Parts: sequence; structure tokens; C-alpha cells
Amino acid sequence: MEVRVQSGDITRSTADVIVVNLFEGVTSPGGGTGAIDKVLDGAISRLIALGDIRGKSGELTLVHTFGRIPSPRVLVAGLGKSAEFDVDAVRNLGASVARYLRRPGIKTAATILHGAGIAGLDPAACARALAEGALLGSYRFQRHKAASIKEDDRAELESLTIVERDAAKIAALTAAAAEGVVLASATNWARDLANEPANHLTPTLLAERVVAMAKAAGLEVEVIEREEAERKGMGSFLSVSRGSAQPPKLLRVSYKGRGGEGYDLALVGKGITFDTGGISIKPAANMEAMKADMTGAASVMAAMQAIAALKPKIDVVAVAPCTENMPGGNATKPGDVVTAMNGRTIEVINTDAEGRLVLADAICFAKELGARAIVDVATLTGAVSTALGDVCYGLLTNNDALAARVEAAAVRAGEKTWRLPMFKEYNSILESDVADMKNVGSRGAGTIVGAKFLEPFAGDTPWVHLDIAGVDMADKDKGWVTKGASGYSVRALVHLACDSAP
Ligand code: BES
Ligand code: ZN
Ligand code: ZN
Repeated sequence: MEVRVQSGDITRSTADVIVVNLFEGVTSPGGGTGAIDKVLDGAISRLIALGDIRGKSGELTLVHTFGRIPSPRVLVAGLGKSAEFDVDAVRNLGASVARYLRRPGIKTAATILHGAGIAGLDPAACARALAEGALLGSYRFQRHKAASIKEDDRAELESLTIVERDAAKIAALTAAAAEGVVLASATNWARDLANEPANHLTPTLLAERVVAMAKAAGLEVEVIEREEAERKGMGSFLSVSRGSAQPPKLLRVSYKGRGGEGYDLALVGKGITFDTGGISIKPAANMEAMKADMTGAASVMAAMQAIAALKPKIDVVAVAPCTENMPGGNATKPGDVVTAMNGRTIEVINTDAEGRLVLADAICFAKELGARAIVDVATLTGAVSTALGDVCYGLLTNNDALAARVEAAAVRAGEKTWRLPMFKEYNSILESDVADMKNVGSRGAGTIVGAKFLEPFAGDTPWVHLDIAGVDMADKDKGWVTKGASGYSVRALVHLACDSAP
């Protein structure tokens, strides 16, 4: 979908539909909605008087214009109470409107800038959120349905034009909308990867997709093969890939916006293209969802795509350890001891706790590259969804200042995080009788124990761990989140990089 910003009079638009709005409790609309109402001889205010349009949040009413203006339809979007309306609501509105308008016969929409009037929100922020929401909300994964797809499901809104009266605002709104498009397109790219079945996205194919993205974005990319990972001593990462016929790949993508030594920020993403659990095999029910156990990798790589386009003055590297976790004849067995890149030995008690094993070496690698701050993103534990559900994701850290920056970046993205404690009393849970540590605890605090496992690999480097296992997949469309891979964390990581530029 193309998003444009134009100066002019919305009532003159020739788009297939004009989108206006109404706050709850407003009986005679003003601004763009008022202008449309007037040229429709008061049709909207009459529908309000009849009680058919109430301005409730989520209410969408399609009104036909019967030749009174060039556009054949007007969609009145309810915004809810003006005091509760914020930029997150604009994003969600953009998403639900784009989905509503996805029908044969509608290709182009013109809209006023929701929220910038009565609610007094920053117009540029509204334009960015509207563009983001429209692209995020209309995402669908239909790649493998070509033979059975219905005509109606093929319909897409092709363009959304934000029409603004004040010509002086156009440049700023255009730039903001373009940023929204960058952020949403990167997120949709990550969703495509996470939705892809594991036979269509092996570590090798994931590497190919990342290399293609990096080349197109002008980013430096490196694919580290098994032999080189062996030479680097990444025994923890490689132990996970032993049971698979597919070769592992460690991906590195670099962006130098400042051109300094090392990196101001490293983004590390778990890239398990399928998690069977290995020898500690998972039950059959819902195992197909484990094709998305590479969402962390997809998120960090997608963030790099957007960072390359937005060009913050900061040096960022993304690292993604990618492998299948399979129970083949050569697989790691419970009780095996493996050695990570930093020399630490790990007793693998449960081969299903594989995310932490691949991240351990990836974090060591990020430090070797000169990372001064590390944020890892992983679908690490089922326990995080028991604790937090799909409302927010877990955030654990060894550094309050970096945590605060990540929290602020998530807020900008309209995402919620929740901090879990890292009390030293949890440390003893991972003590092993035979190695420096084991990879699982025995009882409780699963998400904290996962982070506690990673903590010594980060060492003194400021580090934040995001456990996105509760939010990575959605079972239905809701606001900017679409069914299947949700795209959580991508935009938060981009904001973090852009807001951290020294
Ligand atoms: N990939 C899973 C975590 C997961 C579960 C992600 C559900 C998304 C939805 C991870 O590798 C795993 O299996 N974790 C184990 C850890 C346990 C063995 C300590 C878990 O959560 O059960
Ligand atoms: Zn697992
Ligand atoms: Zn996993």
C-alpha cells in the first residue's frame, strides 16, 4: 500500500472512499468531518441524531454520497472519548480502517489526520502512526494459499492519502508518514519470515533472505558457517544443531552510522527455525507453532532494515544464531556437557532449553565485535506467557539505564514491556554438579532462570533480555497486531537505535 500526504480540500477528493471521524459525545462534527457533513447536506449529523453513529471507539459506518461529492463513499470512524485518544489509538485505527476497506471495489482512500484536531496530538506523530497502522493492519500471509484463495481475500487497499488543509504542514507530515511506512514494512518483512513454514525457512533459506535484505538495504552482511563457528569455539550454539540435517548459520549484519570503533548497540535474536525440543521432545499438540521460534532473529534483522533506511548516527550490529533443534541420531543428549565461546561449560539437562544455548555464544560474539550495549530478543520461555499473557513482553536486565531506554522505545512503538527481577538469590538454581552451570532450573521462575542463564555471558556489558514468547504469535487480528506472527519488538528496536544516537 502506498501512503501519500496531499494539501487540499478533502471534500474534493476522488478517492473510492473518504475516511472521517467522530469522537464520542460530539453531536455536530467540526473540522474535516464537519466539512464532509456539510457537503452531504447534514447526512452525518442526522445519523448521529438518530443514534446510528455514536463515535464509539472501533465503530465504523459506511455512508454513500450519491453523487453529492466526487467520492462515492464516506467512512465515519468512531474515535471514542477524546481524553482517552492517543497516538497508539491512531495506529490501531489506521489498522482497523485498512482492514475494513479491504474489499473489492475499493482501491484508494483519502483521510483526514485523526487525533490532530480535538485530541490535540502532534500531527506528525499522528501521520506516522496512521501510516504504520494502515500497513501493519492490512498484513496477511497468503503465500501458500494461491489455489484456494477467494476473490474477496485478494482485495487490498492500494493507496491511502492523508489530506491536509495547511500546505505548510505537508513536508513534515510527508516525512513522518514515510517513517511509518519504513517501520511497518520492516515489521511485515519480519512477519513474513516468522509465518513461513520451517521447510520453507531452514537456516540456509533464512540466511538467504537476510543476505538479500542486507544487500538491498546497503548493509554489510556475514554468514558464519559451522566450521568457522567451531573455530571460534561456539560449542553451545553448535550443540543445538547436532540433531539436524540442516547446517546452522550465524548471521551478522552491520550498520555504521557513526563510523566508530566497535558498536554502540548489538541486537541479538534467537533464530531456531524449528524447535522440536530435541531429545527432550515436545508434545505433538501445537508443535507447529515452533516454526516461529526464530522471531527474535527476524525482529533484529528487520530492525536493521529500518535502521538502514532511517540512518541514525549510531553503530549497530545484529547477530542471529540460526539452527533447527531436532532429535537426530547425532543430537545432544540430556547430561551432555558443552563449552561456550567464553570457555564456560554447560550441562545440557533439557535440550528444549536451546534458545539460551544459542544466545550464549551469540552474546559472546557480540562482545567480541565490540558491543557496548546488548539487547537480545527471544521466544525463550513458555513461562513468560503464563506470567504476562499476550499483553506485554518480559524485560530482564543487568543495567537500569539501558532498561529504561528500551522501555521508552517500546512505549514509542505502542508496545508494553514488564520488568522481571534478577535477584542474586536466583543464581544458585543453575549450579551444576559436573559443569560451570546447567541450562535449566528445577522449579519455578522459568523466565527469570532463562535470563539468569544468559547474564554471565553478557558479563559487565549493559544488557537487556526481551522474552517475547507470549506475544510473538496472535490468534486474531486486533489493532495493529495481525493473526499469526505479530511483529512485536521490531519497531521498539528501531526506536531504541534511533533514540540512542549519541
Ligand atoms: N521455544 C520455546 C519457548 C516457547 C514456548 C516459545 C511456547 C513460544 C511458545 C523454548 O525453546 C522452550 O522450549 N523453552 C522451555 C524451557 C524449559 C525447558 C526450561 C519451556 O518454556 O518449556
Ligand atoms: Zn525449546
Ligand atoms: Zn525454542
